[in-house]
Amino acid sequence: MKKLLSVVGARPNFMKMAPVHKEFKKYKSLINHKIVHTGQHYDKKLSNVFFKELELPEPDIYLNVGSGTHSGQTADVMMRFEEVVLKEKPDLVLVYGDVNSTIAASLVCSKIVVNHTHTIPVAHIESGLRSFDRSMPEEINRILTDRLSKFHFVTEISGIKNLIQEGFDKNSIFFVGNTMIDSLKHYTGIARKSKILEELCLSKKRYSLITLHRPSNVDNKENFGAILKILSDIQKTVPDFEMVFPVHPRTVKMLKSFGLDDEIYNIKNLIVTEPLGYFDFLNLMINASFVITDSGGIQEETTFLKIPCLTLRQNTERPVTAKLGTNTICGLDRSKILRYVKKIKNKKYKRGKIPDLWDGKSAGRIAKFILNKLSV
Ligand code: UD1
Repeated sequence: MKKLLSVVGARPNFMKMAPVHKEFKKYKSLINHKIVHTGQHYDKKLSNVFFKELELPEPDIYLNVGSGTHSGQTADVMMRFEEVVLKEKPDLVLVYGDVNSTIAASLVCSKIVVNHTHTIPVAHIESGLRSFDRSMPEEINRILTDRLSKFHFVTEISGIKNLIQEGFDKNSIFFVGNTMIDSLKHYTGIARKSKILEELCLSKKRYSLITLHRPSNVDNKENFGAILKILSDIQKTVPDFEMVFPVHPRTVKMLKSFGLDDEIYNIKNLIVTEPLGYFDFLNLMINASFVITDSGGIQEETTFLKIPCLTLRQNTERPVTAKLGTNTICGLDRSKILRYVKKIKNKKYKRGKIPDLWDGKSAGRIAKFILNKLSV
């Protein structure tokens, strides 16, 4: 029996891990898979609701780290996770995406020497993505996690190219597709039944969906102010459309501290909500006319759903969504954004294609590779 630990901490980790956990359950007699939740995200609306909707059990181990500075949060996860690893002695640790919990767990594994012979192997799910923008904390997390990982599970072709360019052994790289899309595919049917449109008095394809939480956008008063002006201009471009904005706690905090609350509430047709659960959010995405975001995962989900997505960032670590999918990288270029909103309104926007292996079977591939590599 092999012991595997999956480490998750922040909202986007949960939907990436859920299908992997379900897959390992099929091999119960061979694999003991435990879930470690670092507590990086602790609000019910950012965490518990996802465990419930994704049919995940309570985490086996909860580290309760909470918020902090980047270094403080990373260090807290490291200290608490080190104790777990020493006690559990896992055969493999799985980490997901690019959040602080991901790099913290990988670092711990690289520093524990078992029987004076080897460190704890790490499998990185969503490996190889690069924005080439080292001002993003997530880019540093991605680069370092890959460096520390033994197995690299890649979601899109660019990931293979990046890893090869960085000198990784080809035999450590597995192109498996996207486990977040596994979750999306699996839960689309249930999500369609959500009553969120009625609750918010919205009509299908008559609204845009907005999410913003990147430090470069919301921790900078000038940029945040510019974005609010852009949202107001979008409203004027499609005046009969509503806009729905489920606001991340970080964004709420910054809105208040910059005194921008009035400005946001003055934008016409803008509905501001608390963070939403997975099904409600999926439903809003499926039925939106278009999405404005700075998230990573939402660029991918909209590509899969073929919903136009305008990304308010200068770059993306998920280039397939712009090359093949429905994503357009806009930065904070007001005229570009408005031009694309007009294209969407006039039904002239690209339709997009679904990237290779985003077929709902990625977790199955990962489980098979791991079983094979651990010789179980
Ligand atoms: C983190 C990830 C980011 C990911 C995002 C998804 C890092 C470096 N960033 O960003 O890549 O896209 O999650 O949501 O790991 N807060 C709460 N309640 C919570 C959690 C956070 O109120 O449950 C507030 C706190 O004020 C906290 C701030 O949000 O200081 C930022 O939280 P943190 O986890 O540090 O980063 P995110 O912005 O959520």
